[in-house]
Amino acid sequence: ERTPTGCPVSARAAEFDPFEDGYQQDPPEYVRWAREKEPIFFSPKLGYWVITRYDDIKAVFRDNITFSPSNALEKITPTGDEANAVLASYGFALNRTLVNEDEPAHMPRRRALMDPFTPEALRHHEPMVRELARSYVDRFIDDGRADLVDQMLWEIPLTVALHFLGVPEEDMDTLRKYSIAHTVNTWGRPKPEEQVAVAHAVGNFWQYAGKVLEKMRQDPDAPGWMQYGIRKQKLHPEVVTDSYLHSMMMAGIVAAHETTANATANAVKLLLQHPQVWQELCEDPGLIPNAVEECVRHNGSVAAWRRLVTRDTQVGGVDLPAGSRLLIVTSSANHDEAHFSDADLFDIRRDNASDHLTFGYGSHQCMGKNLARMEMQIFLEEFTRRLPHMRLSEQRFSYVPNTSFRGPEHLWVEWDPAANPERRNP
Ligand code: HEM
Repeated sequence: ERTPTGCPVSARAAEFDPFEDGYQQDPPEYVRWAREKEPIFFSPKLGYWVITRYDDIKAVFRDNITFSPSNALEKITPTGDEANAVLASYGFALNRTLVNEDEPAHMPRRRALMDPFTPEALRHHEPMVRELARSYVDRFIDDGRADLVDQMLWEIPLTVALHFLGVPEEDMDTLRKYSIAHTVNTWGRPKPEEQVAVAHAVGNFWQYAGKVLEKMRQDPDAPGWMQYGIRKQKLHPEVVTDSYLHSMMMAGIVAAHETTANATANAVKLLLQHPQVWQELCEDPGLIPNAVEECVRHNGSVAAWRRLVTRDTQVGGVDLPAGSRLLIVTSSANHDEAHFSDADLFDIRRDNASDHLTFGYGSHQCMGKNLARMEMQIFLEEFTRRLPHMRLSEQRFSYVPNTSFRGPEHLWVEWDPAANPERRNP
């Protein structure tokens, strides 16, 4: 086999398959060979060039003209005619939001919509997050065991996301149900028989998102990022378009929800796999902010992101013709020895942990990163205070097969409820 530029494809590159369990379990380990020996390779199975080193990936993020983000939300596995017809029947038209918008449209829109992400604006959400975290822990603290994903970490970030966007309370449950289908539709490889069911769910999600948006337009002064966008649209209709608002109403839920839920599950798993570190954190919660950063570096919830090459160029000495599709494996960059010393070591005091690329980098860097950090910090504060004695249960971790969004589907932990700190010091 040959690359599109005519070079032979190595055996490892030919085997690369991000839908395999090896990639799901540990993406940076799965591409260690590439990071060390063949940092940019063409994957014939995926039809993408795969980039694995820190400096190369940063160079790609830095230039969003040569490396367009327009394919970031494209379906990585093209669906068949039947599924496409189903999507069309719902009028599905998910289009540019922010994350996949090119210049010159992107920057003015990003700037117009940035204010709700300032630290002051985010502080208003903190009491809600804390209250949710406390009440969910209350429900299971006397049980001695819990699946933290099912019983807490999946739901709270979704609720926070819906509040942040400004979704009315009565529509939350329906939107909750639909959101997972979008991940499989975009980054997964559903089997042909699953594709149609996924398409129906995504189509329903799209239509429902449209209805909720219409409702928001009736009350544009209500709090919420979507209502903020609706107000901005009145001032700058060419910057904040209808298509943007409808697409963001759907994509925004996923951007804010699954990323954060998965990031927290990955973090708790990683911490409990290092009981010594967990104990240190419980003894000194002041370490939590940097520990969050190190968890997001070491075991982030976005494993890889995408770009489209718009003109013939080179990265790391490799020719990439216009039209090349790139899978930039940010989780591999985060384990690059050239940037992080002893990169595989989990070190919550690492001083450059926040150099990680899990939130992307440059003009499209995650706008919600401080909301995500705040949620994760609050969850860890509550866990270290109330469940310092929890440990991981025996289990095998499973992941929804896809290239990008990554977190265990379940996270079982156990503890002795008789030893709960609040029993000892009521
Ligand atoms: C963009 C990751 C949480 C909103 C992105 C990008 C990544 C990412 C990789 C693309 C960056 C790039 O192209 O350079 C994450 C992770 C999260 C998280 C790992 C949690 C741990 C959130 C939350 C929100 C959010 C809570 C809240 C609404 C956005 C938006 C963009 C974005 C609006 C598009 C920014 C732009 O293109 O200008 N995120 N995200 N994200 N994220 Fe997040």
